Amino acid sequence: MNILLLGSGGREHALAWKMAQSPKLNKLFVAPGNAGTSQVAQNVDLAVNDFEAIATFCLDKEVNMLVVGPEDPLVNGIKDFFTKQPDLQHIGVIGPDAESAQLEGSKEYCKQFMEKHGVPTAAYQSFTAESLAEGQAFLETLAAPYVLKADGLAGGKGVLIIDNLEEAKTELASMLSGKFGTASQKVVIEEFLDGIEFSVFALTDGKDYVLLPVAKDYKRIGDGDTGLNTGGMGAVSPVSFVDDVLMRKVEEQIVKPTIDGFAKDNMDYTGFVFFGLIKVGDEPKVIEYNVRLGDPETEVVLPRLKSDLVTLFEKTLNGELSSTTVEHNTDAACTVMVVSEGYPGAYPKGKTISGLENVSESLVFHAGTKNDQGKLQTSGGRVMAFTSYGNTQAEALKKSYQSINKVCFEGITFRKDIGFDL
Ligand code: AMP
Ligand code: GLY
Repeated sequence: MNILLLGSGGREHALAWKMAQSPKLNKLFVAPGNAGTSQVAQNVDLAVNDFEAIATFCLDKEVNMLVVGPEDPLVNGIKDFFTKQPDLQHIGVIGPDAESAQLEGSKEYCKQFMEKHGVPTAAYQSFTAESLAEGQAFLETLAAPYVLKADGLAGGKGVLIIDNLEEAKTELASMLSGKFGTASQKVVIEEFLDGIEFSVFALTDGKDYVLLPVAKDYKRIGDGDTGLNTGGMGAVSPVSFVDDVLMRKVEEQIVKPTIDGFAKDNMDYTGFVFFGLIKVGDEPKVIEYNVRLGDPETEVVLPRLKSDLVTLFEKTLNGELSSTTVEHNTDAACTVMVVSEGYPGAYPKGKTISGLENVSESLVFHAGTKNDQGKLQTSGGRVMAFTSYGNTQAEALKKSYQSINKVCFEGITFRKDIGFDL
């Protein structure tokens, strides 16, 4: 089997690392990839949204399967592009079509889907510039804090949580007049949910599903969950407070109604569903769906997956997931992300990375790295994820921190407290 994986982050390095272990794999390509993916696959210089060039490459290299890492090409319709053209239809796509990807691409679409299929989530209403006054009046009926969400994709920045009513009204006006461009032409105002968050991942063929190990990520830049939101600074799996009772509720109340909803609505969904969940009291609720794996959750989830990922993808594409079981490693895993100084604000690139050859106790998944004439350099905000296993979470974390101490680049920054609240 020849596979092309799209994307260039730590998630894609972890996906490539896992797929590269499959006996079913012949050739693995990653576009555009990073210095880490080039260790386990062949990087290809293609942009993830250049569908024509991706299709030409797939035909030329006899690619049988396309695995889509990030949400952007999915929302832009890469699945539809492949299923509509006769000469591309034999290539299986791991990822939903554009309509289904609206579950991530539009907050309003996502809320309407959950309402229709009885999936527990925060109460909401949505507003446009024409209904600004109604939106402001709606805010007055809510208690603080106020949750304002740009409807469209806003690079993870489109959610504002505001304590003060007047400020929330002003922000609503500013979002509706273009604060996040077209993404905030519509704004969803939500009830604030007070609880602890976790992430559940399913792989589905649109009617059946298998679950991957549960994870929790740490989004803020600073220790103790302080400072700005980032793409993610670390993650752990399993998650101590997600016991069998809670997990049963998640499956019965959230996962099953969601996948049944895909089938009822005839959605073309073959791929991952990321359930961003929050435990409120003893009950799970959905904060959001993503139509892809999480980053850095993938860097702890896939190392705990014992089953062969390429086989799981094949079964997904053949509609055979109902007869499939997934095996998980019982060890704990954690990942700690090292980032460039200044991230998530402005940061320098091109810093030389040294010492990786001394790391033996952790898996290192590259995120923002590149090879410059044989020298490994930083090329992004999030640079590398250090994943370790342990009998306990504490043991796994200790190994990741020991490994990080062996690696150096100017301005290396990381959180010292991943898993602190568990
Ligand atoms: P989202 O892009 O919808 O995942 O929102 C980003 C983050 O904002 C989430 O991970 C939560 O931490 C927070 N958040 C979103 N919606 C709510 C809500 N209704 N109540 C509390 N926190 C929320
Ligand atoms: N770790 C959160 C995300 O991938 O969106």
